[in-house]
Amino acid sequence: MKFYITTPIYYVNDIPHIGHSYTTIAADILARWKRLNNYDVFFLTGTDEHGAKIAQAAKEKGISPEDLCNQMSAKFKAVWQLLNISYTDFIRTTESRHFESVEKIVQTLFDKGLIFKKKYEGLYCVGCERFYVLKDLDENGCCLLHKTKPVLQFEENYFFKLSQFGDELLKRITDATHQEHIQIQPEERKNEIIGKLKLGLEDVSISRTTIEWGIPLPFDKSQTVYVWIDALVNYLTGIDFPKEEFKKYWPADVHLMAKDILWFHSVIWPAVLMGAGIELPKKVYSHGFFTLNGNKMSKSLGNVISPEDLVSKYGVDSTRYLTVTLIPFGPDGDISWEGLTLKYNTDLANNLGNLLSRTLKMAEKNFNNIIPQTKPNLYLANQVADILKDSFIYNMENIALHKAAENLQNAITLVNQQIEQDAPWKLAKIDKDKLAYCIYSYLQAIDIIAIHLLCFMPEIAQKIWHSTGATGNIEDIAKKYFADFNIPDEGFSVENAKLGNPGILFPRFP
Ligand code: MSP
Repeated sequence: MKFYITTPIYYVNDIPHIGHSYTTIAADILARWKRLNNYDVFFLTGTDEHGAKIAQAAKEKGISPEDLCNQMSAKFKAVWQLLNISYTDFIRTTESRHFESVEKIVQTLFDKGLIFKKKYEGLYCVGCERFYVLKDLDENGCCLLHKTKPVLQFEENYFFKLSQFGDELLKRITDATHQEHIQIQPEERKNEIIGKLKLGLEDVSISRTTIEWGIPLPFDKSQTVYVWIDALVNYLTGIDFPKEEFKKYWPADVHLMAKDILWFHSVIWPAVLMGAGIELPKKVYSHGFFTLNGNKMSKSLGNVISPEDLVSKYGVDSTRYLTVTLIPFGPDGDISWEGLTLKYNTDLANNLGNLLSRTLKMAEKNFNNIIPQTKPNLYLANQVADILKDSFIYNMENIALHKAAENLQNAITLVNQQIEQDAPWKLAKIDKDKLAYCIYSYLQAIDIIAIHLLCFMPEIAQKIWHSTGATGNIEDIAKKYFADFNIPDEGFSVENAKLGNPGILFPRFP
């Protein structure tokens, strides 16, 4: 089975910050999760390189738009590499393959009579790359997101007959039994979209006369394709549209993004696809926006946290974990350095780190780093597996990443509690056989935890796996495990295997 997941393609006028990495890490965790479940995964990300905003940013820097795009897309790629993002492809909208696919879509809409020419006067926000009407703006006439006044523009543009698609779209969004149902999540955001759809849709401009930095319209080269239409089509280009092969992965299983661009993904994009006679994506999921100490992160406020800042403090895998679990996945939330460090210490240093280091220390001290001979037992591993079997899987499938992480933490806590109860430090003096039995059981439980941790923390899960003396490649074993939930009778870490020393995985912060 296939699974096609996408992130938004990011504008290259900004450097990658943790807002971008939030979505991308989440998508990566889901992609890895599906791979572990034996899906043929296509994971697409990339950069959005056309439009007024990019042309303006390049001008301000005194460089050509091409140079800006090259520099910035390289920066995004470098950050994704740092964060161990396992994308299948990275698309840039300035690539020739993308021109071909955009031309195909707009030409198809034109041939079907869904595009017409109209004189238009409107208020354009370059930050959002979209027209607004007065009621969308605040009391000072400013865009709610950028707090700047949109510019009045008068153009003769080509329009897409979006208004024709409102009723059909409403059906496909609200009727879960519809053959081409499009699921919008979370529920509250879906309801907002439905509310707006019920007010009726207006046709939208899909070309610009004044913006040269874009893809020329195939049927009128004096205009360029509106950057949002250009951008959305990346989801087709990335999987080889217009070649028929694109159907190997289309329809997309999940388009992931934040709420700021949900309208484009849940209304404009499906309407364009319907117009072009292409199936709709199955799910559009919009997570919340996070603020930093109560403020919007922005270059002008100077409070942008970069993914590199996080990595240099917490390391790659902990950054991945913290980024997606600090606020519930879905609603808006606020983050702070204090909150990040607290979560790091609680979940990673004190819970997971402590479990591993105390287990390994006991084995080192009492059994010379060798898994002791004992009656193989999986009672703790089975308890951990049971806790995770339903809840973790349910939450991963429902993109409730913070809840899946919470399930993992509960499983870790359970093992730590069992250790407290067994008091192995006492057993070391009075009952070595019982101690061997206990340590064996902890190691088996830790292996099950590592298997579930793999999509969140790929490197650390791997280190844990080696340190417990588990054999085989963790990814292969995890794939097998998620197919039948079978744990071999002797567990994954067997008698007499040598334990490894992973070093301190999570140094505690004061
Ligand atoms: N280029 C368009 C998207 C086109 S997709 C066909 C765009 N780019 S963007 O660079 O502005 O990225 C917006 C996305 O970045 C959000 O939808 C979200 O995925 C992510 N985020 C940026 N800042 C964020 C927060 N502060 N919080 C959460 N996500 C954030 O829009």
